[in-house]
Amino acid sequence: TVIQWFPGHMAKAKREVQEKLKLIDVAFELLDARVPMSSRNPMIDEILGQKPRLILLNKADMADEAVTEQWIRYFHDQGRLALPIDAQSGTGVRQIAAAAKEMVKDKFDKMRAKGIKNPRPVRALIVGIPNVGKSTLINRLAGRHIAKTGDKPGVTKAQQWIKVGKEMELLDTPGILWPKFEDEDVGYRLAVTGAIKDEILNLQDVAVYALRFLSDHYPERLMERYGLDSIPDDMVALFDAIGRRRGCLTAGGGIDYDKVADIVLYDIRTEKLGRLSFETPALWT
Ligand code: G4P
Repeated sequence: TVIQWFPGHMAKAKREVQEKLKLIDVAFELLDARVPMSSRNPMIDEILGQKPRLILLNKADMADEAVTEQWIRYFHDQGRLALPIDAQSGTGVRQIAAAAKEMVKDKFDKMRAKGIKNPRPVRALIVGIPNVGKSTLINRLAGRHIAKTGDKPGVTKAQQWIKVGKEMELLDTPGILWPKFEDEDVGYRLAVTGAIKDEILNLQDVAVYALRFLSDHYPERLMERYGLDSIPDDMVALFDAIGRRRGCLTAGGGIDYDKVADIVLYDIRTEKLGRLSFETPALWT
């Protein structure tokens, strides 16, 4: 779904999330493990305030494991727990309820101290930008298919609690927040990973961005995938080399750059170049 985020929509989305926060004990901040910063809402600290928060690095199945480890340490150093998960297959998802329970232990211990013998289940909310995997995770935690509300802030339906085991309940509608799209790198990283639809940015520009990044960080994978002996510094030369290898030719015999861009992005998104991360904590420290 393509969502238009206008200032009014953002303010409304923020209000809606803050309304939901009143109902819950812990927020699950869902990020894309391949681009944790770019898939993060820029106002998240302000929006969530002091609410206990568990960071979930989703799509970890597609991310570079070593880099995901770096991110977990990065968040840990900031005093936050982050868990790598794959909502699609369910890997890591079973750890979520236990971690959430641990996070609200003090609050629930206080309830018990006040004489409440059987405190209610821990209540949780998933928040994240579009396409980060919120619905997939809700369905995974619910163990069944929950209809997705329109991806528009302001589209409301009666909220319901989904039981996750005996000790956790999840709001069935996630909090949808916007990315930091005024940052050009953020836009490209979200486009490369497929979180932003291909109509929004120029496909060749996105592919150039991806190929530059791969040349710097994963040169061997690039050479192996496209049968290159070396990686040309010049991006046009790199497009030419990949295009020749893959037979992306125009009617006139030139290189079809759109086709090359398509192939490169398709290969990245379907893991033909292996597991890739497009951001490392080093960029923020
Ligand atoms: P949203 O509610 O936050 O907008 O995201 P949604 O769950 O719709 O997920 C967006 C896309 O990401 C979906 O793919 C979904 O399958 C995929 N996805 C979610 N979690 C994971 C994960 O942990 N690993 C991987 N590899 N993919 C994940 P889609 O192409 O839009 O749809 P489809 O492939 O499910 O048909």
